[in-house]
Amino acid sequence: MQRFTRALVTGASTGIGAAIASELATRGTELVVVARSADQLEALAEQWRAAHGVDVEVLPADLTDPGQLERVEDRLRTEDAAVDLLVNNAGWGSTGAFIDSTPDEATTCIELNVTALTRLTHAVLPRLVAAGHGGVLNVSSVGGFQPVPHFAVYAATKAYVSSFTEAVHEELRGSGVHVTALCPGFTRSDFVTAAGAEDEAARIPDFLWQDVEPVACAGVDGVSRGRGVVVSGALNQVTTGLSSVTPSTVSRRVVAGVINRFT
Ligand SMILES: NC(=O)c1ccc[n+]([C@@H]2O[C@H](COP(=O)([O-])OP(=O)(O)OC[C@H]3O[C@@H](n4cnc5c(N)ncnc54)[C@H](OP(=O)(O)O)[C@@H]3O)[C@@H](O)[C@H]2O)c1
Repeated sequence: MQRFTRALVTGASTGIGAAIASELATRGTELVVVARSADQLEALAEQWRAAHGVDVEVLPADLTDPGQLERVEDRLRTEDAAVDLLVNNAGWGSTGAFIDSTPDEATTCIELNVTALTRLTHAVLPRLVAAGHGGVLNVSSVGGFQPVPHFAVYAATKAYVSSFTEAVHEELRGSGVHVTALCPGFTRSDFVTAAGAEDEAARIPDFLWQDVEPVACAGVDGVSRGRGVVVSGALNQVTTGLSSVTPSTVSRRVVAGVINRFT
């Protein structure tokens, strides 16, 4: 079980990212927190410092802006107050038929969920591998296990995150560095509001939803234990298990049917 000295968490201003940062702080890990909302990050940083006595550095950045992303990459390469855990949590997607979306929506989703995650992982790994210690926790989704009609680009980015993470996990076997994909299912956060899917989410039964705290705890435990993939929640473990053994010609139609029921 690895313990981490300092973690950089993206998307730490709310939701799953804030819960992961909080979970790490309770375990005594210092933090570097990244998101666009500087005020929200500062307010949470004050709480974590007061409650857990940890050092918290606030690094506001829009990860879809190449210049701002580069500043975060530079922070990950820094030897002073070095980061030994990167949590790529910031993510976004919009729902609806692909032909009704704008090209900019797809680009933003890919830039945040794929490009930023890949570049940040690339920035931190050489130092971690040289040290023979550290981790990367990439927040994917159960939506990455099969194509998801009406969430086409988002689900494709999460399929990328899971595939990329598992591949690099194997490349680093024996190095002392673990790269882990955390796959949450429906999780109560600001995600559905940001995705413009409040009406659809309101029709999803309550028992299918998880709170952010158990999801965050599963992710931090998973990367600490060197797991390749962590699916949070027993129900999500069953559905992703079924997805893995079902041909996508079947699973994509089942998912489309479920989505049509809720939209
Ligand atoms: N909630 C779910 O049902 C669910 C299910 C599966 C997977 N996930 C994944 O879990 C992760 C966290 O989602 P969440 O549910 O916690 O959503 P959320 O509540 O909407 O939080 C998203 C976080 O990402 C940050 N962010 C968004 N755009 C950004 C940008 N351009 N640059 C930097 N930071 C940005 C947001 O902060 P600012 O707005 O301050 O920038 C916020 O801190 C995502 O990767 C999501 O895909 C969520």
